[in-house]
Formats: sequence, structure tokens, C-alpha cells
Amino acid sequence: MTDVVKWLKENGNLKIIEEPLDVELEIPHVAYIEVKKEDSRPLLFTNPVSKAKGITYDIPVLMNIFANKEITQKIFGKHPDDIAQGIDELMKLKPPHGFLAKLAMLPKLFALKNVFPKRLNGRGECQEVIYSKKEVDLDKLPILKTWEEDGGPFITMGQVYTQSLDGKMQNLGMYRLQQYGKDRLGLHWQIHKDASHFFDQYEKAGKKMPVTVAIGGDPLYIWCGQAPMPHGMFELLLYGFVRNQNARLVKSITNDIYIPHDVDIVIEGFVDPTQREIEGPFGDHTGYYTLKEPFPVLDVETITMRKNPVFQATVVGKPPLEDKYMGWGTERIFLPLLKPMAPDLIDYNMPENGVFHNLILAKMKTLYKGHAQQFMHAFWGVGQMSFVKHAIFVGEHAPDLENHEKLTEHILNRLEKSKILITHGIVDHLDHSSPEQFVGGKLGIDATDDEIEKGVEELISDAVLLEKMQQIDENICEVKQYMIHTKTPVCVISVAKKESQKYMISKLHELKKHIKLLVIVDKANNELGNSYMLIWRVANNIDAQRDIVLEPFIAIDGTNKDKHDRYDREWPGDTFCTKEVLDRLQAKGIIDIDETFIRHFGLLPFK
Ligand SMILES: Cc1cc2nc3c(=O)[nH]c(=O)nc-3n(C[C@H](O)[C@H](O)[C@H](O)COP(=O)(O)O)c2cc1C
Repeated sequence: MTDVVKWLKENGNLKIIEEPLDVELEIPHVAYIEVKKEDSRPLLFTNPVSKAKGITYDIPVLMNIFANKEITQKIFGKHPDDIAQGIDELMKLKPPHGFLAKLAMLPKLFALKNVFPKRLNGRGECQEVIYSKKEVDLDKLPILKTWEEDGGPFITMGQVYTQSLDGKMQNLGMYRLQQYGKDRLGLHWQIHKDASHFFDQYEKAGKKMPVTVAIGGDPLYIWCGQAPMPHGMFELLLYGFVRNQNARLVKSITNDIYIPHDVDIVIEGFVDPTQREIEGPFGDHTGYYTLKEPFPVLDVETITMRKNPVFQATVVGKPPLEDKYMGWGTERIFLPLLKPMAPDLIDYNMPENGVFHNLILAKMKTLYKGHAQQFMHAFWGVGQMSFVKHAIFVGEHAPDLENHEKLTEHILNRLEKSKILITHGIVDHLDHSSPEQFVGGKLGIDATDDEIEKGVEELISDAVLLEKMQQIDENICEVKQYMIHTKTPVCVISVAKKESQKYMISKLHELKKHIKLLVIVDKANNELGNSYMLIWRVANNIDAQRDIVLEPFIAIDGTNKDKHDRYDREWPGDTFCTKEVLDRLQAKGIIDIDETFIRHFGLLPFK
């Protein structure tokens, strides 16, 4: 894995694009479109340029390394389920009885010696070229600007290495970094993340915090950086466990942080805890822009690199994206780590169109009344799982969690108002729907019981239902009913919103016998026939406490919120591609997409 490009050529069907393309929008748009294809491939851009800055870079850009499940599995070296099994066995390790049992345990114990990172003396390959403070120039790196409204260029696949004030804890986190000029980077470590906790310690002590950012090397480093390891556990332990080989580290040149010897590029420096700078906006993995917010800044002391480095980057925006495949690995590998707090959990799935923290589906064996509710609270109380907004639990005989069609049927046949838990708790730093940042509504659905008896009283066609609805409220534009063969058909409507939807829902009470579950979205930029993107939209846009009502039927208001909803934060916009850039790339033959593709993935605003 020391030469990732060679490895990807041999193992990953790497596509090489030699055409000079701009780091601003062009390269990111190509990667964004590629990863949405069924057969998506990793991409190497050998001639990145910046037209705005007049730069021709001599470092190629490597994107979509985690382009599909097959490559992701090859990066791990085995199926993530096998890694999970190894973790499970380790967690269940018991003292051996008898000589043979002791012998059988030896390989497991010896393998553990490979888990701990090793500190090497001397310099690593990543320090073959050294730029001193005077020579530091971030413009030497092909840093991408992904979206038109982004606040600037961002390093999107940076491995951010930090340590606690007393030096006893190390951390690797994948956080984006905004480029400010030639030698400063904005550090977007969110408030709940480990590096942010370390930062608090330095701030309290009034000391500068050392930070080293590594780019490239073994892609497993980057996967470890995004893995939700418990606080205090260095992510490179996981690297050693998966590779069965210690991560080999060298010391940064100007601070005490250790980084893998074989990464491509290293940016070292210090953070002055008294300084903050506006970070963002940034088109984020929620498919919405994250708005401007002050974050700490890294003053770069030194940049080092290999002789022929490669710049790894990713694009975030609307799903599906590379994080779908990284997230798949994380979901599988972390299953055994969830089991100690939820022992009767059988499996879980975080669909990528729920952008991970917005929706979790979990299968469990129920042993007593309230068991599913117990698990909901357990999930909402632990580590990064606590950011999950909507959790649906099904019983042990439910269909496979990845069979979304069958599973939805199963849930809708068991959906009951009395089994819906709406509560309040911590939400992800990026959540834009809650009335207040960091805390908001949580929804838990217990669908572990038997089928409910009563379905919808009188099912009518979409056309007739629309007519009846429009007689009540002319702002209702379209109706589409899903899953009409189940006990709870899903009636989705689009509206030209002019008031709080609460009024509209109460006005629709007279249609109660035709509706059991109503979902409302804005007419703009939503297509009622596209359930994949509807789930993405609604899971993003709702705060369960404000936007779900249970009378006269279950209704979910997935519209954008504004003053009518007593929402006084700034509502962010969708991430959209730039039409001229798409047209230019299409004319050059670099991309090949049609209107259906553009609409399906919401690439451009709807006309
Ligand atoms: C593509 C991608 C980009 C991410 N960007 C950020 C980011 O800018 N800030 C952040 O706090 N977390 C970000 N994350 C999530 C963190 O990497 C993840 O929560 C990780 O577990 C944090 O590590 P920590 O618990 O050691 O802080 C990103 C994840 C991915 C996959």
C-alpha cells in the first residue's frame, strides 16, 4: 500500500484523466458524478490547474479511492464482517483452560502485538522533501474548491493528528481544512469530536496546540480517521488490528506529533487558542451547505512530502458518495462494539440517503416490553451514535436490513402511534433542522411487534385524493402514495408553502379515512417519484419534536423551515453543481450524463 496509485491500477480499475482540469469545481464535479454511477471507479487527475490563480500543479489529484464496495473490501484486505468477527472474538476472550486451549489462543495474542503503533527513529519517506517556514506555500498543493458557494478551497481528506495536553492520548480524526492564504488552515473539528476536546485543554492552559495534518499513504489511514473510536483510543490501533501490522510512525519535524512514515504530504504547525476565523460555507455531506462559523486556525510551520506525492481528496454533497462505502465498512466493523450495551441487537444499517446520522435501522431480539425503547435510549446516549436523529427497530424475523423495499413493508405493517417515541437530545453539529444548534428532536419507532390489525379505512387514487386535497388547500401541488398494499400507505404531497404546515395538516382532518401517514415536502427541488432523494430530504429537514404530529393521522413536515415555523436560524441551501461546468465537462467528453441522471441526483435546481 506504499504506492497507492500503482495498487489502484492493479486492483481498483483506476481511471486516469490527463486533460488539464481546474481544481475549482471541474475536478470535484467529475468525481461527484463518477461516484454516483453503478460501476464507479477511482480517478487520478494528472494535470490539475487553477485558472484563477494561474497555477499548473505538479502534484496529481487522486479521488474516489473508496469508489465501491469491492475496492473498499480490498483496502481492508478482507470483508469488514470478518474484521468484525475478529473484534467480537477478542471481546469474548476468556482465560483458557488446559494446555490445548492455551496453545489455540497463542496466535490471537501474538496478533495483538501488531496493534500498537511503532515509533521509528529518523525521518520517513513523507519527509524526503522539506519546505521550511519561509518556503511554506499551500498554493503548491492542488487544494479543491468543490462548490460554487464554498468559502474557499478545502483539504477534504486530511488526516488530522493531535494529542492531549499531557501527551498521553493521541488522536487521528478526518476533519476538513479550509485554506486561508499561503500558510493558514481552518480546522473544522466539530464540537463533539476528540480534537476539539484536546483543544479545550490547550485553551484552558493558554498553550499553543501542536497539530499535524497528513495527506495520502495507505487509504486505511483515512478510513481509520473517520471511524468513531471511543474517546481516548488512538485510531491507529484499529489500523494495526485490520492490517495485522503496526502503523509505523515518525515524528513531525517542528512539533511532537507522530504521523505514519509513508504518507504523501505532511502539514505541521501550531494552533493559537486565542485565535478563531470564520470557516465555511462548505457544501457538506448532508447535501446542504454548512454555514459560516468560527473555528480554530492552524499556523503552518513546515510542509514535508515524498519525492513524488499524490494529493488525495474526496467530494461531499448529496448521496451517494464515497462516504457510502467508507460508512459501510464502519457500520459492519463497529457492530460488535455496540453489542455490549445492546446485547440483543442482531444487526443495524445506516442507509447513505439518511446521511448516516439521520436514520438508523436496527434488528433486535425483544425479550420484554420496552426493550426497543431501552435500545433507543442506549443508542442516543453513546458516542457518535448519539447523533442519530431517527431510529427504527424491527424484530428478529424482519427481512434483511439492506432489503429496503421489504423492510419498509414490514415496518409500515407495524407502525402504530403508541409505538412512536419522540424525545429531545443531542444532534449532530451539522444538523440544520433543529430550532437550536446541537440539541433537537429525536424519533424512535418500535416496529418489533406483530402486524397491526387496521389499515387505512378507504384507499383512493392519487388523482382523486389530490382533487379532494386541493379543495381544502390550493397550495397542495401533487400527491403520490407509496406502499398502498401495506397497512400504512405513505401519502407524499408537495406544497407551495405559504404558512406553517400544522394548519394545513389540521385542515386535512376530514380526509382522515383516506390517510394514515402523510409526508409533506416543498414543490421546489423535490420529485415525488424519487423515493431515494425524498428520504434524504425528509430525514435532513425534520426536527421530530416540531415536525411530526400524530393527529389526525401521523404527519411529517419535511418542508424547508422558516419564520412560519418559528425557525429563526438561517436555513442552508442545497449543494448544486454549476451548470456551465457540467456543460463544459460534457462538451470535452470528460463526463457523460443526461437529464434523467441530473434530476435523479438533484445535480441542478429543478426548472
Ligand atoms: C468525508 C468525511 C468528511 C468529514 N469531515 C469532518 C469535519 O470536517 N469535521 C468533523 O468534525 N468531522 C468530520 N467527519 C467525521 C469524522 O471524521 C468522524 O466523526 C470521526 O470519527 C471523528 O474522529 P474523532 O472522534 O477522533 O474526533 C468527516 C467524515 C468523512 C467521512
